[in-house]
Amino acid sequence: MIASITPLIAQPWADYALLDSGHGRKLERYGRIIVNRPEPQALWNPTLTEADWDKADAIFTNTGDEDGDSGKWKLQSSTPESWPVEWEDIKFICRLMSFRHMGLFPEQLTHWKWVNEKAAKADQPLNILNLFAYTGAASLAAAKAGAQVTHLDASKKAIGWAKENQDASGLNDAPIRWICDDAKSFVAREIRRGKKYDGIIMDPPKFGRGPNGERWHIEEDLVDFLGGCVELLSDNPSFVILTAYAMRLSSVSLASVMQDAMQKFTGTVEYGELLIEQENKKRFLSTSLYARWSS
Ligand SMILES: C[S@@+](CC[C@H](N)C(=O)[O-])C[C@H]1O[C@@H](n2cnc3c(N)ncnc32)[C@H](O)[C@@H]1O
Repeated sequence: MIASITPLIAQPWADYALLDSGHGRKLERYGRIIVNRPEPQALWNPTLTEADWDKADAIFTNTGDEDGDSGKWKLQSSTPESWPVEWEDIKFICRLMSFRHMGLFPEQLTHWKWVNEKAAKADQPLNILNLFAYTGAASLAAAKAGAQVTHLDASKKAIGWAKENQDASGLNDAPIRWICDDAKSFVAREIRRGKKYDGIIMDPPKFGRGPNGERWHIEEDLVDFLGGCVELLSDNPSFVILTAYAMRLSSVSLASVMQDAMQKFTGTVEYGELLIEQENKKRFLSTSLYARWSS
């Protein structure tokens, strides 16, 4: 099976731009809100002035941990509690979370487009499983193009937020099955039930917990988990996407695991980094690793 290294580059769109990065931070526009937050990868010098950075509506200061995940936001008085960010008529409600995120990962844009195109081109509605699906961007991108989606996350709050995004996007009638469960337990159960999917998306964290405390550790669990996911594929599957953040593995490792798992199917694997291109085209910011298989 051929595997090729391909950077996937998210370019700015009307409602999102990486405005600048450097000195361990990034400055982004999410809809009408500008946020300034830590970015450990941004070791270089910024291109905008300090005054430009200070104009942000929300500035995150971290409180110690290496990844800058915990800390607090300093807000301008006019910064709303939540606001919409739109992509292709899909609306995502963004919020300033205590762990420095807004509920949307713009670098995943290339995956949303890919899934959306595959679903739109399919002869019949694709049956797609989105695991560790968070606030549902990929689920909505697939459902908008006519796919039937099973969206799974361990967090009730994340599922509530994904439903809010569905509602804001006017996709209430889209066939999305919402499941709050542990990803490993659910995959094992679906195998026993003989369920099949044409496409699987997974965006596992490094460490996670199922709703009943079930433990997820990517480096220990990924290989068996992906093997289980492959058992859920239909006879003529369309795609499998794996994204990973903050881990010791390289994208070459992810690609090799994907090649092993998918060996009984004919197709190709692409792998590499998910990048965001800065609006002024001066930098690319690497956010995560991926490997994806397609028929
Ligand atoms: C990195 S986020 C996914 C981001 C999302 N795919 C996106 O692009 O917007 C990881 C998600 O995994 C979920 N999670 C963590 N452990 C889990 C487990 N054992 N089973 C299912 N979901 C889990 C978390 O609740 C979180 O929503």
